[in-house]
Amino acid sequence: MEKEDILKQIDKKYNDLGIPVDAMLEGLLHSKPVNYWDYIQTSPLLSLQTQRTTLPDEKVFIMYHQINELLFKMILWELTQISKKENLSADFFTARLGRVSRYFDMLTTSFDIMGEGMEPEQYLKFRHTLTPASGFQSAQYRMIEFASTELINLIDYRFRTTIDQNTPYEHAFEHLYWQAAGKDHSTGEKTILLKSFEKKYKDRFIRFMKEYNLTNLWSRFKELPKEDQKNINLVNAMRHYDHTVNVTWVMAHYHAAGKYLNAGKKDVEATGGSDWRKYMHPKYQRRIFFPELWNKNELKNWGISNLEGCKTLTGL
Ligand code: HEM
Repeated sequence: MEKEDILKQIDKKYNDLGIPVDAMLEGLLHSKPVNYWDYIQTSPLLSLQTQRTTLPDEKVFIMYHQINELLFKMILWELTQISKKENLSADFFTARLGRVSRYFDMLTTSFDIMGEGMEPEQYLKFRHTLTPASGFQSAQYRMIEFASTELINLIDYRFRTTIDQNTPYEHAFEHLYWQAAGKDHSTGEKTILLKSFEKKYKDRFIRFMKEYNLTNLWSRFKELPKEDQKNINLVNAMRHYDHTVNVTWVMAHYHAAGKYLNAGKKDVEATGGSDWRKYMHPKYQRRIFFPELWNKNELKNWGISNLEGCKTLTGL
């Protein structure tokens, strides 16, 4: 664009806003050039790794969780764009989902940073200072789920028949699959892990559930013209995302957790207190965002046969 045109547009922009353009230009004359560290905010970002113990490997634990939370934020950013997009096309959907999948692939393939990156002896010491906290309390992880699928697919299988479109959100919330990890197995009482999580986030989750009820990935997919719903690139992107989040990542997490919680060859209790072997394995929970995009055999083998599940389709 020509300099004159730029100046004209700046003039118009600030006139429309009722801001004197001369003052703005003078401000520009005195403003400091931007630096990398100011723009990326490296100082605040790098000052957030506060340990609770003196054990060096706790730093790895904290930082890897923080990296995960940053990537969760990037994922939610893209999911929101699909959710809010007017005149959504298969190409836009596929491209944004591709971004999301690359982020989740990164989370999955990097899990060895956790699994291999700490001395179990150190972990087994510093974990005591974390009880009853757990990654279970990651709000962004739950929001990714709400933004990805219809609520019914996040409901504990035992209660699915009691829930439909008319069920109040509050009731659905109480029957989400993850409630199981936050209850005492023998009494059914909510644990401190779940109670504190709900105290902090329940209201926000209910608002989010409402907001994404009809704008989650699956609802938006079904709004597309029938032809687009058969678009092989889009269907493969949906399947890849579903399998990465609900099988590959879950298995990487399960193996990393098993390494530490079974380091003495005998399972120890998880910091969050769940029956973790059962709770964490995808073959028990069978979380599936887009069940209609998988065939009978794939559904039957969900979480059991890894390769079968992520097969790329070549035609529909
Ligand atoms: C040594 C590393 C890790 C161990 C031992 C571990 C262990 C566990 C366990 C046992 C649970 C079940 C709930 C409980 O009783 O606490 C859980 C849940 C969870 N963790 Fe981890 N975890 C590890 C690393 C991570 C990392 C790096 C993340 C990334 C943010 C993460 C995110 C989550 C999430 C989102 C859940 C809830 C999953 C669900 O509800 O199915 N965990 N973790």
